[in-house]
Amino acid sequence: MSDKKLPTVWILGGPGSGKGTLCDKIVSKYGFTHISTGDLLRDEVNTGSERGQELVKIMKEGALVPTSVVMELLKEKISSKLGSSKGFLIDGYPREKQQGEEFEKAIGPVDMILYLESDDDTMVQRLLKRAETSGRSDDNMETIKKRLATFHTHNDPIIEVYKSKTVTISAQQTAEAVFSEAEKSLDTIVVAV
Ligand code: AP5
Repeated sequence: MSDKKLPTVWILGGPGSGKGTLCDKIVSKYGFTHISTGDLLRDEVNTGSERGQELVKIMKEGALVPTSVVMELLKEKISSKLGSSKGFLIDGYPREKQQGEEFEKAIGPVDMILYLESDDDTMVQRLLKRAETSGRSDDNMETIKKRLATFHTHNDPIIEVYKSKTVTISAQQTAEAVFSEAEKSLDTIVVAV
């Protein structure tokens, strides 16, 4: 991927901070390929495979799936899109410092990290609202608490390592305002489609 010099942006933030919502807006303007590791894992679960059954247990506990599994799915997806992509938006990755290191070693360097910062209450309220329609097995209070705990354990060390490339945006504003801040930063590394 380094040979093609496609821009790569990681989107970080706690559960319900608005990562997916922001990615949809970025895709509309910049034509990036959006890859959510949560979606990749849910796709695997939906195949009904043995591996999928193991994954759903981990996700219901709000814990992290082994990096080797996530990396394998990510690499496959990125390879399949390389020919047509204008850049990659990697949503919900890395979840721990080591995942970032492995990505840069195996796939290529990250250009920018957009970190959506929010207090827990806001994230919980959004997820409980989404739970009314999402059908996600991890959108319930018990699992949400565990997802938040996992996030708080691992996020700061990631931001510390990548602070020179990280842009922190308050997630506690309208989705449009979040996008507007993201745009200002993205415009410094890419041109809109
Ligand atoms: P994943 O699917 O990535 O879940 P998550 O990180 O918990 O984030 P969500 O998808 O729930 O929320 P979001 O931040 O995208 O917010 P959204 O835009 O949807 O991961 C699930 C699980 O998979 C993990 O717990 C883990 O087990 C595993 N996993 C995933 N990646 C992994 C990895 N790399 N390594 C290991 N394990 C991994 O918005 C949420 C709601 O809020 C929506 O209803 C939306 O409409 C609303 N909303 C969004 N923005 C705003 C706003 N600005 N104002 C008001 N409402 C808003």
